[in-house]
Amino acid sequence: MWQHTRVSTLITNIGELVTNAPDDGGSSATGGSSGETRPAGPGSYLAIADAALVIEGGRVAWTGPASQAPAADQVVDADGAAVLPGFVDSHAHLVFCGERGAEFEARMAGLPYSAGGIRSTVAATRSATDAELSGNLRKLAAEMLSQGITTFECKSGYGLTVVDEARSVALAAEVTPEVTYLGAHVVPPEFGQDSAGYVDLVCGPMLAACAPHARWVDVFCERGAFGADEARAVLAAGRAAGLQPRVHANQLGPGPGVQVAVEAGAASADHCTYLAAADIDALASSATVATLLPGVEFSTRQPYPDARRLLDAGVTVAIATDCNPGSCFTSSLPFCIALAVREMRMTTREAVWAATAGGARALRREDVGHLGVGARADLIMLSAPSHAYLAYRPGVPLTAEVWQAGQVVARS
Ligand code: NIG
Ligand code: FE
Repeated sequence: MWQHTRVSTLITNIGELVTNAPDDGGSSATGGSSGETRPAGPGSYLAIADAALVIEGGRVAWTGPASQAPAADQVVDADGAAVLPGFVDSHAHLVFCGERGAEFEARMAGLPYSAGGIRSTVAATRSATDAELSGNLRKLAAEMLSQGITTFECKSGYGLTVVDEARSVALAAEVTPEVTYLGAHVVPPEFGQDSAGYVDLVCGPMLAACAPHARWVDVFCERGAFGADEARAVLAAGRAAGLQPRVHANQLGPGPGVQVAVEAGAASADHCTYLAAADIDALASSATVATLLPGVEFSTRQPYPDARRLLDAGVTVAIATDCNPGSCFTSSLPFCIALAVREMRMTTREAVWAATAGGARALRREDVGHLGVGARADLIMLSAPSHAYLAYRPGVPLTAEVWQAGQVVARS
């Protein structure tokens, strides 16, 4: 009888293999007759020097010292390069049309950032065709992939009508399983001061149209956007429709966002730029990840969040891009890692962990963000010998190869 055989790939001569997983001690991967191994989920930062990794069936089958690597059907020589888990970008707004370069220029000349700019992207997005929206989204997704982002979250939030939000989440679902319904981004102009009326729409017909395409519900809980009670209502309605909560919290000033996120059992409270001691305590004693977006502080000239204080308090920290046309138009997690290290006093290890395993935690994913046995074989090969080069050589394109589910998907 013809037997199906799976091709195995050995990547060897890896200078530094960041696994973020307990050392398997050279253990075999696919023990048992089924050959399936459940991923253990991302652990703490861990790297193996002079390492090798075996991929089988799109998953990590073995990691350990190169000298102990098992044989495989094909062999790739990493020539001393560092290999990392693919980046997990847990916060991005990629469904939009138009751009706001002039707003950025004005900000750099002294104007402050305000949430009001969102409305100009809403106008451009509403008047775009599906093909234009999808083209822009796919271009940005490809840009991310070529820079090592192998998993990304994508929000709606620039449509703000039932039809425009529904097409936003539907288009996002074509490119990622991590789709977030952000109807509660700002109150659109046609509602004037009637935020209660708009929240009813967000929690009613708009949610019904969007929920089938989304996994998450998000709300911008901020002065100028939505208050605590409105945010609670949006998250509760989303949860009732099967969506899990995440929150834009404490971005532009102190406020209730983090407390609302923790109360709601949100997977993540994002931004966390202005935190009170009670916010840090609440995060530390919860399963809610603090997702920091240092590209936003860079692009809006705001103070950076105090990552050191969060880490020292025991909060789980993720770093994400927040790629969007207004507050931060970067798709580069290496840039955000460099900022986190230089400006937020994170160590290079903490920053790399936060952009891989931390992002996976913020998306409640166990199969990505690490390279333990059973993880999806999503990885980055750097043209550098160690993870630290991502901050040590800022702005230099160091992503030599990107692999997704065991296949090379980008090379430079
Ligand atoms: O995460 N804070 C709200 N939303 C985006 C900004 C969107 C925009 O300015 O267009 C953010 O920063
Ligand atoms: Fe955002």
